[in-house]
Amino acid sequence: MSIITKHKYMTAAIDSWNSPPQNLTLDINEIHVWRVSLTQTESGLQTLAQTLSTDEQTKAERFHFPKDRSQFIVSRGALRAILSRYLHINPSHLRFEYNPYGKPSLIIAQSGNTLRFNLSHSRRMALIALTKNRDIGVDIEGINPNFPCLDIAERFFSPLENSVLRSLPEHLQPTAFFTCWTRKEAYIKAVGKGLSIPLNQFDVTLAPGEPAALLNIEQNPEEASRWSLIELIPSSDMVGAVAVAGDCWKLHCWEWKGEF
Ligand SMILES: CC(C)(COP(=O)(O)OP(=O)(O)OC[C@H]1O[C@@H](n2cnc3c(N)ncnc32)[C@H](O)[C@@H]1OP(=O)(O)O)[C@@H](O)C(=O)NCCC(=O)NCCS
Repeated sequence: MSIITKHKYMTAAIDSWNSPPQNLTLDINEIHVWRVSLTQTESGLQTLAQTLSTDEQTKAERFHFPKDRSQFIVSRGALRAILSRYLHINPSHLRFEYNPYGKPSLIIAQSGNTLRFNLSHSRRMALIALTKNRDIGVDIEGINPNFPCLDIAERFFSPLENSVLRSLPEHLQPTAFFTCWTRKEAYIKAVGKGLSIPLNQFDVTLAPGEPAALLNIEQNPEEASRWSLIELIPSSDMVGAVAVAGDCWKLHCWEWKGEF
């Protein structure tokens, strides 16, 4: 079993994703991140779809492309299956509520108001991050080597991030761009306010080899020190990040293999 203990900075490398033990517990100082393959058989998809609530099934039906529909069903179904392992509640009995920006959480009666989670999906993979009693956000992105990184960074990144990105050799810019993007999204998802937080008003690290960190948040200098960022490497062509409040914890990375 791989346990990564945090002091200030940390990375979950590509070989960190393991099978979980049968009796899984989440201690107060732990963060668990699950890697979920969104590629499922038709029967696996049906099984997961049956665990969704009526409103989730309605949302799934609204997706225009079957690929998006199945991505939603598998990631929501996996989320329910994973949460049920910790809470010992049937996946289909779990109930979510949403903040005004759409962030889902368990209704208090079911979580005891302690279990917090967040989910992200991209291409054929999802990441689900869990912890207790503290805000958490996760993001995953595929690295697109042909993406117009500098143009998009100009619009969304801070002046500091733009200068770091432009200083890198061209072949390193796509990975640095998506690394930066996931760190910023993980933070805004942990806060729960999504893109209503201007992305260019805070700085994260992005240079290759530089530990994941929130450096500065405009208009609130103390805010950056309240948060930890963790770098996740879910596959050779994807990057991810977790943002979590506080800084005293252990990280476990698990692979979800379709089990309930
Ligand atoms: C949250 C947000 C940054 C996610 O962007 P993304 O990179 O496209 O998507 P990801 O795959 O990383 O994350 C999506 C998941 O995050 C979760 N999520 C949704 N809104 C969230 C929020 N405000 N904060 C944290 N997590 C959120 C959901 O589980 C969602 O998955 P699901 O819809 O399949 O259940 C973006 O959708 C956003 O800013 N939303 C806010 C919209 C808003 O302000 N709405 C106001 C009411 S109209």
